[in-house]
Amino acid sequence: MSEFEDLFNLSKFTAKDILEIEKKHLVPAVGHYYTEPKLFVRGEGANLFDSEGKSYIDLFAGVCTVHSGHCHPTMTGALKKQLDLLMHTTTLYPTIPMALYARKLASLSPAGLEKCFFVNSGSEANEAALHLAKKYTNCNFVVSLLEAFHGRTLMAMSLTNQGTWRQNMTYATGTIGTPNCYCYRCDFGKDPDTCDMECAWFADKVIRCQTPKRVAALLAEPLQGVGGITEPVPDFFPILAEIVHKYDGLFISDEVQTGFGRTGKHFWGIENWGVKPDMMTMAKGIGSGFAMGALVTTEEISDCLMPKDLFSTFGGNPLAMVAGLSNLEIIEKEKLQEGALAKGNYYKLRLNEMMEEHKLIGDIRGKGLMIGFELVSDRDKKTPGTVEAKKFMEICKDNGLLLGLGGLLANVIRIQPPLVLTMDQIDQSLEIMDDAFRAMEG
Ligand SMILES: Cc1ncc(COP(=O)(O)O)c(C=O)c1O
Repeated sequence: MSEFEDLFNLSKFTAKDILEIEKKHLVPAVGHYYTEPKLFVRGEGANLFDSEGKSYIDLFAGVCTVHSGHCHPTMTGALKKQLDLLMHTTTLYPTIPMALYARKLASLSPAGLEKCFFVNSGSEANEAALHLAKKYTNCNFVVSLLEAFHGRTLMAMSLTNQGTWRQNMTYATGTIGTPNCYCYRCDFGKDPDTCDMECAWFADKVIRCQTPKRVAALLAEPLQGVGGITEPVPDFFPILAEIVHKYDGLFISDEVQTGFGRTGKHFWGIENWGVKPDMMTMAKGIGSGFAMGALVTTEEISDCLMPKDLFSTFGGNPLAMVAGLSNLEIIEKEKLQEGALAKGNYYKLRLNEMMEEHKLIGDIRGKGLMIGFELVSDRDKKTPGTVEAKKFMEICKDNGLLLGLGGLLANVIRIQPPLVLTMDQIDQSLEIMDDAFRAMEG
C-alpha cells in the first residue's frame, strides 16, 4: 500500500512505528512531550484518543489553540462545504469568506481597530505587525518583555526573551528587552503591595539608554503563555502604554494565546488591563486548529502601507476564513468566553484548596482558562521544581490527562484547554492531578 492509501488506515500503525518514521525523516528539532509519546488519531471536544483507543482529557489544546474543541461539527461541516467550492485563490482576487471574516473580526476588536491583514501563524502576524509599526513610525527600535515568547521567525525570535527559545545566531537589530512583571520572582526583589512598579518604569530608562528616544513599538503578551502564565499587576500595562506612547511608539498586543475569549472576562487579553492597543496580533485560537493568523489595527496606522507592502500566498485563504468564522460562531453561540471565566474561577478555587495540602505548588496564576501553577521543591525557598514538573506531567499523562509545561525554569504547569471543556472533565482532571501529587509525595 502507498503512503496515500495508508493515510486513514488508523489501526495499521503503532506509536512506535510512527516514531521510527519520524526519527528517520524529521529533523531532530521536532521533539515531543513525554518519554513515551502517544499517537493521537482522533479528537472530539476536549478529548483526544490515541491509537489504542484510550481517551485523554486535553488541557493543553494543541498549545492553547483549539478553542472550540477538537473537530467541532459546526466547523468541520462548514469546512467540508468550502472544500467542495474553493480552496485557494490568494488575495490577488477578492473572496466572500475573507471579506466577511474581516468585517466580523473588526466588529469584535477594540473600537478603532478595523483594518485586518491575514497570515498563517503567530510569528508571521508579529513580523507583519512590526514591519507596519516600523514603516508608520519611521523607526527601527522595538521593545519586548523579558520572558516573552513571540515566535520563531527572525524578528519574532529576536523579541523572544527566553534562552530556551533563542539560538546562537545573528538577530534582528533594534530589539530591546525590558523587565516583565513577574511578582512571584520579582527581578527587583520587591513585594507587589509595597513596590513602586520599578519593573514597568524601568522601560523608560531602557528606551532612553538604548534608543535615540524614539521607538517603533512595544510588543507584549497581556499574560505570558510560554513564559509560564505570568500575570502582571493592574498598573503594569497602563504604565508601559504611557511610556511607549511618550516615545512615539505603538502598543502592540500579542493576543496569540490570550485572544478569542480565553481569559474569560474579556474577549481580548489586553482588555483585562484597560489599555487600548494600537495593533493586535493573533493566531492559535483564531482558527481553533486551522493554521491562520492576523493583525488588526487602525485605519490611520494602516494607511501608511502601499500596495504590496504586505503579502502572503495563503493569508486569508477561503478555508482559513471559514474556519475562523465558524470558530467565532461557536464561541458566541456556546458562550465560550463566559464559560471560560466561570470554569477558570472554579479551577483556581480548587487548585488553591489543593495547594494547602500539596507543598509542591508554589504559586497559582492566570485568568479564565489560561492558568498556570508553579512547582517548587521547597516552597519557602521557591526552589524551582523543574524535575518535579516533568514527573507530574508524565504521571498525569499515564492517567489520561494532558497538560502543558512552561516558564523560564520549565516548572510551570499550564492549563489552557479547549474552552468547551465540561465541568465533569474539570473535576476528573483535578482528581488526576490530586492523585499525581499524592503519588509524588509518596
Ligand atoms: C504569544 C505568542 N506569540 C507568537 C507565537 C508564535 O506563533 P506561531 O507558532 O503560530 O508562529 C506564539 C506561539 O506559541 C505565542 O505563544
